[in-house]
Amino acid sequence: MALPALLKDTLELPVVGSPLFIVSGPELVIAQCKAGVVGSFPALNARPVEKLDEWLSRIEDELGEYKSRNPGRKVAPYAVNQICHASNDRLMKDMETCVKHRAPIIITSLRPPAEIVEAAHSYGGLVFHDVINVKHARKAAEQGVDGLILVCAGAGGHAGTLSPFALVREVKQWFKGTILLSGAISDGFGVASAVTLGADLAYMGTRFIATAEANAADEYKSALVQHAAHDIVYTNLFTGVHGNYLGPSIAAAGLDPDNLPVADKTKMNFGSGGNTKSKAWRDIWGSGQGIGQITDAPPVAELVDRMKREFDQARQDLLIRASA
Ligand SMILES: Cc1cc2nc3c(=O)[nH]c(=O)nc-3n(C[C@H](O)[C@H](O)[C@H](O)COP(=O)(O)O)c2cc1C
Repeated sequence: MALPALLKDTLELPVVGSPLFIVSGPELVIAQCKAGVVGSFPALNARPVEKLDEWLSRIEDELGEYKSRNPGRKVAPYAVNQICHASNDRLMKDMETCVKHRAPIIITSLRPPAEIVEAAHSYGGLVFHDVINVKHARKAAEQGVDGLILVCAGAGGHAGTLSPFALVREVKQWFKGTILLSGAISDGFGVASAVTLGADLAYMGTRFIATAEANAADEYKSALVQHAAHDIVYTNLFTGVHGNYLGPSIAAAGLDPDNLPVADKTKMNFGSGGNTKSKAWRDIWGSGQGIGQITDAPPVAELVDRMKREFDQARQDLLIRASA
C-alpha cells in the first residue's frame, strides 16, 4: 500500500470522487470531503477563469469551518483536475491559482504533466495522473507523478478497455506510488474489490452524478437510476477520444447508438462539445457500466455511509470465505 501521509487519517473510505465535467462543483466537492472521501472537480468547470479562485476559497473556508466545529471527524482533502491538452488555453493560469491556494491534490488528464508536477511539488502538493494503458503509465511515472489513476474498462467518460485485473497487477510490478483504480465502481463492494486487487484508492465518477449535490439535470440522474450496463455505448464520436456514454441520451439526440459513425479526429474538443450538433456531456450523457447498481440519488453523506457498510460487509465476507 502506498497511501500518502495526506490521506492516512483523513478518509472514511478509500475513495476519490472523480472530476466530472459540468457535474462537479463546490457543493459536490464540499459534501464529498465532509463525508470523508476526496472530492474533486475540473478547473474548467469554474467559468470564467477568475471563478476558480472563488471556488477554492469557498471550499477551503467551508471545510475549515466544518473541521473546527467537528474536531473528531475525518475530513478529506480536495483535488483539482487539470486537462492537459492543446485546447485548454487556461491550463497554466489555473495552475497559478492552484499554487496560490496550495491545492492539496492535482489530478491530470491526457498529456503527461511535467510542468504541472513541478508546480504542484513546489508547495508539497500531490499529482495523480490518469492513464488507460502501461505505456502512458510509464511516461507519467518518468515525469514524477505521485499516483497513477488506472482508468479501466467500463469507466464513465473517456475510458480504456483493459481489465482492472490486468492493469492493476501489471502496473504494481514496477510502480511504487499511489494506485487509484477506476471503472464501473458503484458501491462499497466495488471499493473493497479495488483494494483487494492492490489499489490504494477507488476512483468513482458515475455513482456521484446520482446524488443530491451533483450539478446534473434531474433527467440525467433518473436515467442513471433507470438504466443498466447494457445501455452503455463506447465510442469516440463525441470528443475524438473513446469513452462510455448512455445509449438512450444518444438516441434522444437523433443518433442510432448501435450504428454510430467514426469520429473526425481533427475536430477533437474536450471543453465544450463534439462533432455533432448535440453537445457531449450536456446532451450526450457520460456514464460508466456500473449504473445497474444505482437505485437512487441520495445526499452524498447518506451514500458514503451506505458504502461504508457495504465495504465492511465485503471485508467480512472475504474473511469468512478465506477461513471456510
Ligand atoms: C459525465 C462525466 C464527466 C467526466 N468529466 C471528466 C473530466 O472533466 N475530467 C476527467 O479527468 N475525467 C472526467 N470523467 C472521468 C471520471 O473522472 C472517471 O474517470 C470515471 O467517471 C470513472 O468511472 P465510473 O464513472 O465508472 O466511476 C468524466 C466522467 C463522466 C461520467
